[in-house]
Amino acid sequence: MIKSDLENLKKEVKEALEKAGNLDAIEAIYKKYLGKKGDIILILRSLKDLPEKQRKEKGKLANQIKQLIEKEISKKKKKLKAEGHKTKKEWFDITRPGRKMKIGHLHPLTQIKKIAEEIFESMGFEIAEGPEIETEWYNFDALNIPADHPARDMWDTFWLRQNDIKNQKGNRELVALLPVITPQLSKNERLLLRTHTSPVQIRYMERHNPPLRIIVPGKIFRHEATDVSHEFQFYHLEGLMVGNNISVANFKAVLQEFFSRFFRRQVKIRLRPSYFPFTEPSFEVDVSCVVCGSKGCLVCKKSGWLEIMGAGMVHPAVYKNSGLNPKGLTGFAFGMGLDRLAMLKYKINEIRWFHSGDLRFLEQF
Ligand code: PHE
Repeated sequence: MIKSDLENLKKEVKEALEKAGNLDAIEAIYKKYLGKKGDIILILRSLKDLPEKQRKEKGKLANQIKQLIEKEISKKKKKLKAEGHKTKKEWFDITRPGRKMKIGHLHPLTQIKKIAEEIFESMGFEIAEGPEIETEWYNFDALNIPADHPARDMWDTFWLRQNDIKNQKGNRELVALLPVITPQLSKNERLLLRTHTSPVQIRYMERHNPPLRIIVPGKIFRHEATDVSHEFQFYHLEGLMVGNNISVANFKAVLQEFFSRFFRRQVKIRLRPSYFPFTEPSFEVDVSCVVCGSKGCLVCKKSGWLEIMGAGMVHPAVYKNSGLNPKGLTGFAFGMGLDRLAMLKYKINEIRWFHSGDLRFLEQF
């Protein structure tokens, strides 16, 4: 390549620039001459193969031309921009709908818990809580379930050793929690993961005098094999109403109202005799099937009824163990699975989805 080639190139670029009427054309010129594989860049790269003298001479000229072209290009660019030109890249359609931002939302079980809480709060119930690590006393004995009583078999229990918790140096929070669970924790008291929320009945009545109305939503644990309808950890919603002359009729009215509002349709409830050591009499509560409207389906096993919870009238021993005088006190208590409520409301047929962490499931709520 000879000098005149370079000069020609310079002329060529100048002419092209003069013709260029918009910023995109300028971009194209830049790319053709000064881009990665642009003509001038290729010339500069080929210099290394020339003898030294020629290389110096030609290199100088090529560099001058390169700078000149750069200057011309930026001059022309400025001019076009001043005239209001924009490159395609900068142009955008302000009427186009924006890209949706992904934000999180509450877990379906939390949503269900909130719905249930709101309904009970509107009926004058307060929300109470208790610890997930419990003592044997609160979870069993105080609820009238002594150690040798076969009723303990109703709750497969995860037992904890006090020393195992205390020796967990990394888990100071847990160790600090122990006196909160029970201030007079004796050395040989056995600890466990609560198998139901019923211990909060005792804890609450130790500190509050009737009349009282509470619900206790919370996580519970059972040492059980899992399947489509069983998990080893799930949520319960406990209820307790105590006062004078509280009857089974009151219980039925409150629960019928709750379920009708929860499922957004009029439901009936039915009580069947059952047994819990902390209620007398005890019942199993069924609601008319909300899936088929009691016509009979797979969910209600063609019976038209769904088993929904255990309940009963509070046993006098429970008042006594909470430090209350049972005389004249009447009340009802109930406990139901929040997971099961969610499954019925949203027609979910597998309880393990809740803790699967699978977004395809969670994003449906
Ligand atoms: N705690 C019982 C259970 O775990 C349910 C229940 C609560 C029954 C209150 C009666 C009264 O199955």
